[in-house]
Amino acid sequence: MITNQQEALANVAVIGLGKIGLTIAAVFANNNYNVYGSDINKDVVATINQGKSHIVNEPGLDKLVLTAHKSKNLSATTVTAEAVTKSDIVVVIVPVLIDNQYNVDYQLIDAAVKDIASGIKKGTLVIFETTIPPGDTQHRFGKKIEELSGLRLGEDFYLAYSPERVYSNRIIEDLKKYPKVVGGVNEKSLELAVKFYKNALHCELIEVSSIETAEFSKIAECVYRDVNIALANELAQFAETKGVNMSEVIVASNSQPYSHLHTPGIGVGGHCIPIYPYFFINKGLKQGMTRLARTINDRMANYAIAKIEKELGSLTDKNILILGLSYRENVKEPTKSTTLLLMDQLTNMRSNVFVNDPLFTNEEIKSYGASPLSLQDKFVSEIDVVILQAFHDAYTDLSFEEFKNCMLVLDGRNKLNKNEISSLGITYRSIGNEKPKEEL
Ligand SMILES: NC(=O)c1ccc[n+]([C@@H]2O[C@H](COP(=O)([O-])OP(=O)(O)OC[C@H]3O[C@@H](n4cnc5c(N)ncnc54)[C@H](O)[C@@H]3O)[C@@H](O)[C@H]2O)c1
Repeated sequence: MITNQQEALANVAVIGLGKIGLTIAAVFANNNYNVYGSDINKDVVATINQGKSHIVNEPGLDKLVLTAHKSKNLSATTVTAEAVTKSDIVVVIVPVLIDNQYNVDYQLIDAAVKDIASGIKKGTLVIFETTIPPGDTQHRFGKKIEELSGLRLGEDFYLAYSPERVYSNRIIEDLKKYPKVVGGVNEKSLELAVKFYKNALHCELIEVSSIETAEFSKIAECVYRDVNIALANELAQFAETKGVNMSEVIVASNSQPYSHLHTPGIGVGGHCIPIYPYFFINKGLKQGMTRLARTINDRMANYAIAKIEKELGSLTDKNILILGLSYRENVKEPTKSTTLLLMDQLTNMRSNVFVNDPLFTNEEIKSYGASPLSLQDKFVSEIDVVILQAFHDAYTDLSFEEFKNCMLVLDGRNKLNKNEISSLGITYRSIGNEKPKEEL
């Protein structure tokens, strides 16, 4: 049972020790909580119990994990029920996914909830942080815990939801910087969750009136981004037909305080923005902007390929190099990457597709069905077309001098040096900044 005096020294279970779970577990542990992490992956558990982080490219995380390990404030197990039994607060950050038909896939989190129910004791506060369809914390997970444990929701155990809003590569910074939105199933649940986050994260808190409000706010954030990127993509395509430079338009328009035009690009990927809109769409949101935005953004890969075809004609047998398997710059995350859409289409057109990504090994690139190509490989001189999909730092000073036969560079993120590329006799094309060939 949690009391106010015990708060800063409470035992906390963090269920799911992935990129987010391990980071919050390490932050809680460094803020004086005894953290019992649990994960089904025994390699992850073993690494953490050696004081090491299995997550790459997350500034500050290695140090936090090591410090927490040395102070004995962080340990990990594969037995979730055990971690839960030892704890007064349980934080769940196990993913909810989506299948190929865009149906919500609860398998992982349902299994975690079952384990929580078998370890939970009276007085425990359970907080869900995973992005989920509104209503699920209480009506799917809370109900299940109640049913399996025999404890009464809101009386014998407390339930809250607080979305994780951080950005990869700067999770620790964002945990301090972004206000934490918190909703509870009742007043006591909210009060306990708010006290916990105040001590455990030292961040600003936004208390909302219901669990559903907190759940809805996270999906709404993602839909906002998706719809606004789709709008930028739509305007960028139209700007091209008018010979207007969209990058200039954005700077000019956004000098007015109510205009927040986003940046157009070759596509939207990752495990958040292209996925979470379906948590509304599949739960009753009628046809409209949310769905349309998904379609517009997913069609950007076709648009980019059509642009190249307009310049070069058929892409059959052309050697095409895509830069970046990751969905975005500097993150090793291929989920729903636009590169996968590009590869599918180009392979159907019988182009020879190569992928370069300094964040992945050749074996990892091959596991996505792609042929890896190092930028140091002599074969770059045989490449006909380069498509920039993710602008990793490693590409900042990329020179195209060795791309002796390259006819066209499609800059999907509007980041490359147009003048330098053009000076080599290579056609430069981007998204929203040049007229297509037949319009010239
Ligand atoms: N990564 C991000 O940038 C980000 C940003 C905002 C919010 N989120 C939210 O955080 C969630 C987790 O993201 P992540 O990047 O940490 O995912 P991740 O894939 O890195 O980690 C998930 C972890 O959960 C473990 N797991 C799976 N089933 C389990 C079970 N039944 N019991 C215990 N552990 C289990 C996996 O082994 C894995 O280590 C996302 O689904 C999303 O809702 C993520």
